[in-house]
Amino acid sequence: MTGIKGLILSGGSGTRLRPITHTYAKQLVPVANKPVLFYGIEALVEAGVEEIGIIIAPQTGDEVREAVGDGSAFGARVTYIEQDRPAGLAHAVLTAEKFLAGSSFVMYLGDNLLRDGVPGLVERFREESPDAMILLTQVEDPSAFGVAELDEGRVIRLVEKPEDPPSDMALVGVYLFSPAILDAARKLEPSDRGELEITEAIQGLIDEGREVRSEVVSGWWKDTGQLADMLEANRLVLDDIVTRLDGEVEDSRVEGRVIIEEGATLRNSLVRGPAVIGQGAVVDGAYIGPYTSIGDGVRVLNSEIEHSIVLSGSSVENLGARIEASLLGRDVKLTRSDSLPKTMRLLVGDRSEIEIV
Ligand code: DAU
Repeated sequence: MTGIKGLILSGGSGTRLRPITHTYAKQLVPVANKPVLFYGIEALVEAGVEEIGIIIAPQTGDEVREAVGDGSAFGARVTYIEQDRPAGLAHAVLTAEKFLAGSSFVMYLGDNLLRDGVPGLVERFREESPDAMILLTQVEDPSAFGVAELDEGRVIRLVEKPEDPPSDMALVGVYLFSPAILDAARKLEPSDRGELEITEAIQGLIDEGREVRSEVVSGWWKDTGQLADMLEANRLVLDDIVTRLDGEVEDSRVEGRVIIEEGATLRNSLVRGPAVIGQGAVVDGAYIGPYTSIGDGVRVLNSEIEHSIVLSGSSVENLGARIEASLLGRDVKLTRSDSLPKTMRLLVGDRSEIEIV
């Protein structure tokens, strides 16, 4: 088979991660200080897929273009494909028709993270050339996903976010397709949520008697569409890091596996890994606890934070309580003031969530 292309979906509206995603593509939110989207690009390149189309939304596309560039930094050739509205995963495939130009392709949802990437799968797809190959994994809450009904390992039915799931095997956001999927997508009507569902297009292939294979993923998988999943993904990725201390460490203790990037400064602090501190960050008189990613240029002064993600340019200063299980956006300022009266002063964006003790 000739070259398999890659199609990464980085459009959509990211409603479940607002307000971070009001202005920012959810696929660019970093996990262990690297945008989620980059893990997908790297997984495709590692599987020998270098010709990659990235679906972008009109509102956030420029940021994705800026972050990924022409793909050469990843060893890929990237083409951007603008989808005018988030009309569904199958709509995204139809939007990419010209780019796909009759090739088979791997479709990778830009907010998904797979520990073991996709190399074995792409190889198997090349060898066996079915019309579609889907990935499945057992989940606790199948009704939040596409769900497969299996008969002795064979997929007989797929349903999108069913109220009454036929099994606990969810569709993972990586799919391998022959061009037959385009015809199946063209036959779709919008679902109840108003989208052209890829799950229904694959069901269409099954109904036509075409070959749809399934494979159960081996390592962990995370859809990072919601805050709790994002933090969990951060935890899983940080669990695999190897200590590297390239920044300056003065009068501080570093325990466990920790990455301190070049230009970062650690003073009078305790960092208990796994944790990563980004370039140019300043951590002074602070405690950074396990499963925390501190972004580039962040300042953490006289404060404690753990199991959290802090995006670049933010500062956390003189807080009286420990922050945990939190996601702070870019250039957020969080501080405590000693002036009277003892009040709280807030400038908080739409749909922010704050819990105060
Ligand atoms: O994560 C796995 C799940 O992904 C599967 O189990 C479901 O069957 C599948 O439908 C999908 O469900 P989600 O509701 O989680 O998809 P979401 O809307 O989050 O979109 C997935 C990615 O695709 C995300 O990076 C945004 C992008 N996207 C989404 C839509 C609807 C687009 O680029 N264009 C779109 O029109």
